[in-house]
Amino acid sequence: MNFHIMTLFPDMVIDAMHTSIIGRAEEKGIISVKAHNIRDYTLDKHKKVDDYPYGGGAGMLMQAQPIYDCYKAVRDEIINNARTTEDTYMRVIYVTPQGELFNQKKAVELSKEKNLVFLCGHYEGVDERVLEEIVTDHISIGDYVLTGGELPAMVIIDAVSRLVEGVLSNDESAGTESHSDGLLEYPQYSRPEEWNGRRVPEVLLSGHHANIEKWRMEQAVERTKSRRPDMYEKYLKNK
Ligand code: ADE
Repeated sequence: MNFHIMTLFPDMVIDAMHTSIIGRAEEKGIISVKAHNIRDYTLDKHKKVDDYPYGGGAGMLMQAQPIYDCYKAVRDEIINNARTTEDTYMRVIYVTPQGELFNQKKAVELSKEKNLVFLCGHYEGVDERVLEEIVTDHISIGDYVLTGGELPAMVIIDAVSRLVEGVLSNDESAGTESHSDGLLEYPQYSRPEEWNGRRVPEVLLSGHHANIEKWRMEQAVERTKSRRPDMYEKYLKNK
């Protein structure tokens, strides 16, 4: 799976994405993450990429031309590297607080794609015309406003890539964690059996697998009910 990030700050995303589990998956050739500097595509002789909004208002807008030319270069690269028609499929995601809220279900859906292209906005926004021309999905990572789209793009890439086959090892498997079945995960404990006067729940030391499973399920339900009543309501409905 290939991720392309169109940004004015390529260093910010590349350093972060080339470490840890994502970096390991890149080395194995399972995923690739590439940043494309929008500024490299401006036709302005001063390398300008922003301008004042028509009609007035605060701040500057990112202009359409450099973004569109950057997008065309990314699209050509995807097409040139494709071996089958399916390899040419791409979604262009504009990360914006005005988008659909990102969640685990969306992560699963996106993990089935071949190519995801992210547009990271800055300043006060982006000229609407280029959004109409290239964007297939508008996604927000939460109801708050960040200074740019780089962090949201990285959040989405991290959540999506760990669902791609082969990225996590068996021990790190994505099957039983929080949100995978509509419940938060049960509490976990490691050695020692007693720490700071707190003992590991007896059932986990019993070796009785059926009882352990039952206890974990009860804990997951209880935890979801108290910490995320909204998720618990949905869980009851879908049960
Ligand atoms: N850009 C700025 N804030 C954002 C958010 N909450 N989600 C996605 N993109 C953003």
